[in-house]
Amino acid sequence: MTRLALRYDAINLSQGFPDFPAPAEVKDAAARAILNDENQYTITWGVPETRVAVAEKLARFYGIQADPDKHITITCGVSEAIVAAVLAVVNPGDEVVIIEPFHENYVPAVRFAGGVPVCVPLQPPDFSIDAGALRAAFGPRTRAIIVNTPHNPSGRVFTREELTLIGELAEAWDAVIITDEIYEHITYDDHRHIPPVTLPGLERRVITISGLSKTYAITGWRLGYAVALDEALSTALRTVHDYLTICAPTPLQKAATVALRLPTAYYEEQAKSYVRRRDLMIAGLLEAGFSVRPPEGAYYVLADFSHLNWQGDDMTFAHWLTRAVKVAAVPGSAFYLTPGLGKTMVRFAFPKREETLEEAVRRLSRARELLQKGGG
Ligand SMILES: Cc1ncc(COP(=O)(O)O)c(C=O)c1O
Repeated sequence: MTRLALRYDAINLSQGFPDFPAPAEVKDAAARAILNDENQYTITWGVPETRVAVAEKLARFYGIQADPDKHITITCGVSEAIVAAVLAVVNPGDEVVIIEPFHENYVPAVRFAGGVPVCVPLQPPDFSIDAGALRAAFGPRTRAIIVNTPHNPSGRVFTREELTLIGELAEAWDAVIITDEIYEHITYDDHRHIPPVTLPGLERRVITISGLSKTYAITGWRLGYAVALDEALSTALRTVHDYLTICAPTPLQKAATVALRLPTAYYEEQAKSYVRRRDLMIAGLLEAGFSVRPPEGAYYVLADFSHLNWQGDDMTFAHWLTRAVKVAAVPGSAFYLTPGLGKTMVRFAFPKREETLEEAVRRLSRARELLQKGGG
């Protein structure tokens, strides 16, 4: 969709990346690190100071006690961390539970390992976890579950009850919980992120994964981290990471220490700016005739276009929207493996400047009119 957005000169609300600058002090630190010749490989699991900064941040926000020497690996983004974690724990034929809709790299990661994805759809309209379906997905061949909270694309922030059920099932079937917490700092209203590793009894069962792409507006730097408090899990993950990438980019890891140590005010300000963006986007989509459920976290909204006069599916709708309305979004079915799901939805990403979103909303307000005139 990004390629189509470029081709049709559309506002790109498909891929989730900011169009506003990264914090100046973080960019300065990266430039300094390059000029200081911090340009060679690091040891595979990352620059020591960066791992210390991750440990400090985990303690600061969640009270998690991780040993930087044993438990923390700096990766090339969450994307690599997910693949490394799955390759570390999944053997051919093992099943991995994946909650649908899902972020795009989970299913390929499982297939790279020769594993079998077992999908559990969230229940519309509120995208809650269906306890019966989740229970039914676990069995003797289950090796892991991938849990993304705050959740892309639904905007859910899973509750303590939902996460507790996941923990109980993982315990019952001796499965590893691989998390993706990349949107940990983007939550709305009273919703707060709960890292699954902080639930009682789960500390040695979880590989906690997060990244710097979203929180510090540096998606192109490719920095993330994986934390396994169980040393055997951590060693397996580090081994895979070594052979996948050797190490994450050294000067950017150095600069990451500045980002990870930004004061709490940075996160508070960011959260406030995302409330404004979310509200602008939701109001605009409702006005344009979409049905939406305001996200509890992350920076996406799944918008149902059933009430617009569209005769085709989500794929043709997303193409038309990009071409004719000049706003790009992702077809809903891209987030599902189960056939037939997501076909009346598209996902809009709103990590954009307010003027970008205002222009997108202006364009979207013309969609209904164009369709009534038979413009589709
Ligand atoms: C849920 C989720 N996980 C991972 C990623 C990719 O993260 P990274 O840039 O750290 O590889 C994204 C990017 O959109 C995402 O939405």
